[in-house]
Order: sequence, then structure tokens, then C-alpha cells
Amino acid sequence: MRCNSIAFLIILLLCNLNSASKLRGVWNPEPKRDPQATDRIYGGVEAGRDEFPFMAAVILGEVALCGGALVSSTSVLTSAQCLLTSFEVINVHLGVHNLTDDTETGRIIIKATRTIVHEQFNSLNLDNDIGIIKLPMSVEASNILPVALPSRSFAEGNSFENYTARIFGWGLRSSAPSAIFSDILQTAESMVINNTVCEDIYELFVPYVTPLKLCLDNSGLSGACIGDAGGPIVTPRPEDGKFVLIGTISFSAGPCGYEMPVIAARLSLYLDWIGFYADVAIDD
Ligand SMILES: *[C@@H]1O[C@H](CO)[C@@H](O)[C@H](O)[C@H]1NC(C)=O
Ligand SMILES: *[C@@H]1O[C@H](CO)[C@@H](O)[C@H](O)[C@H]1NC(C)=O
Ligand SMILES: *[C@@H]1O[C@H](CO)[C@@H](O)[C@H](O)[C@H]1NC(C)=O
Repeated sequence: MRCNSIAFLIILLLCNLNSASKLRGVWNPEPKRDPQATDRIYGGVEAGRDEFPFMAAVILGEVALCGGALVSSTSVLTSAQCLLTSFEVINVHLGVHNLTDDTETGRIIIKATRTIVHEQFNSLNLDNDIGIIKLPMSVEASNILPVALPSRSFAEGNSFENYTARIFGWGLRSSAPSAIFSDILQTAESMVINNTVCEDIYELFVPYVTPLKLCLDNSGLSGACIGDAGGPIVTPRPEDGKFVLIGTISFSAGPCGYEMPVIAARLSLYLDWIGFYADVAIDD
């Protein structure tokens, strides 16, 4: 199988679960900061069991890992980049706490029957990096629940600048050559930053920071790493604190922990697309 990569940009799809260290040629492995300080999703904490019932692990073949979010009882939203290589089988794991423990109670493993990649996915700048995995059956379990999408009135014209942004994943915990992926789901809190500020930080990579992207602040030194692509970014909505989905993790530049913002698909711009393919109603 082939793992897509763009020079210097880290596509956050984890290729080869069994030898993550093979990936180290993709970037300069010298950490800028103490690797201990970046030893999580990175910079996150362990999620509690069933704390985030929408979180999905997407296992592509036996070799690759992505994150995803259950958005309806039959649909998981992930990144387009996770679905572009054809794998013999895609298994969606729901209700996961310890990813390594296939037999843990509460876990449901479902073989995907159909995948949908956004028609306008742009492999040059990673615009429209979203896709949907359809499940052959409706998932019903007390510990597995879809995440809410923002209402149109909340999403429309909202840049989400300065909103809290929570990320999740089982991806690598650092860019150190010895890095391992996490058994236990990791989660970290950050903040959405202004796209113009994000462009200033990205310098050479400005062409990637289009209005279709959502950027997260990385000054708190937490962020996404290899294996976290496709994972959800949620924010608590102001009226009741309930999490709503605002982003899908796409990529970052440089090694994990280098203070480069995580860049995500700005989901508020795709509500109709998600509603249509995931068969979910978007509130006004
Ligand atoms: C996760 O499960 C694996 C396999 O059962 C086990 O070896 C490992 O210790 C578990 N990890 C944690 C943190 O409990
Ligand atoms: C976000 O926070 C920054 C720094 O506090 C502030 O300058 C900016 O106006 C805020 N943006 C919005 C949209 O509230
Ligand atoms: C970013 O902030 C500037 C002002 O500092 C504002 O003009 C611009 O609209 C903001 N951009 C976005 C995408 O929110």
C-alpha cells in the first residue's frame, strides 16, 4: 500500500501500525522541546471510559489508523486522506477505551460497507479533507452516541475564533524516533485561532491555510500527531455546554510538538454535505 505524503507537511494518517518508527524519515526527528513534555496525543490527558461516546477508531487494513466521529447511527465522519488508498477492509471500532485490547467490553467493531470522499478533495492543499464511512447497520448502544453538529444559526458566519477546541486520538505521542501510539484515547484542549494569525505562523505553508480550514492554537503545546487524522474537533456550545463538531483533524507541519497549529477541515462549511451523506438533520 502507498502512504501519501507531502514534503514537510505531516499527513496525520498513521501508516503501518506495527512499526510506527518507520515513519521517522518523513521529518527531522530532533525535538525542539523536551520530548517528555510532548508525550501525549501530544500534550493531552487520558480520556475516561465512555467519556466521549462519539469517538471512533478507523483501522484501515491491518496497517493504518485514523480517527473518526460517529455523526449518525450509520455514519462516521473522517478525513478524505484516510479513505483514498483502497484497503481490503476498513473496520470501525466504536466504544473503544484501550485500542490495543480488542476484547474489551463495550466495544463494537463494524466492517465498513461504503466510503464517500468529498468530491472536491484537493490533494495539493488538502482542502475538503473530509469523508464518510457508512456502516451496514444502525449502531445502538448506551456507550456509543453520535456527536451533535452545530445548528445553522450557530455555524453561519462564525469563525469560531477563540472558541475552546477539544481534540481526540490514539495517534503517536511525540515525534521522537521511539514514539508509540496510545493504548488509551488521548484528549487535549486548545483554542481556535484566527486564520490570518495561522497564516503568519505557517509562513511557507500559507497556501494550505485556506478559508476552508480551521486552525488550532498550539502555544499550550498540545496537538495532533500521526494517527490522529480524521479525528473530531468539538467545542461546547454556549447555551448548554453540549459538544458540537466543528472540525476534522487534517494535518500539521513539522514534527509533533513544534508549535505548529493543527489544521482541520472547517466543518461549519460542510453541514449540507454531511447532512446529506450521513443522513442527519441539521438544526436551524
Ligand atoms: C491495553 O490493552 C493491552 C492488551 O490487553 C494491555 O497489554 C495494555 O496493558 C493495556 N493498556 C493499558 C494502559 O491498560
Ligand atoms: C480573540 O482573542 C484575541 C486575544 O484576546 C482578541 O484580540 C480577539 O479580538 C478575539 N477575537 C474574537 C473574535 O473575539
Ligand atoms: C482575523 O482577524 C482580523 C483582525 O485582526 C480580521 O480582520 C479577520 O477577519 C480575521 N479573520 C478571520 C478568518 O476570522
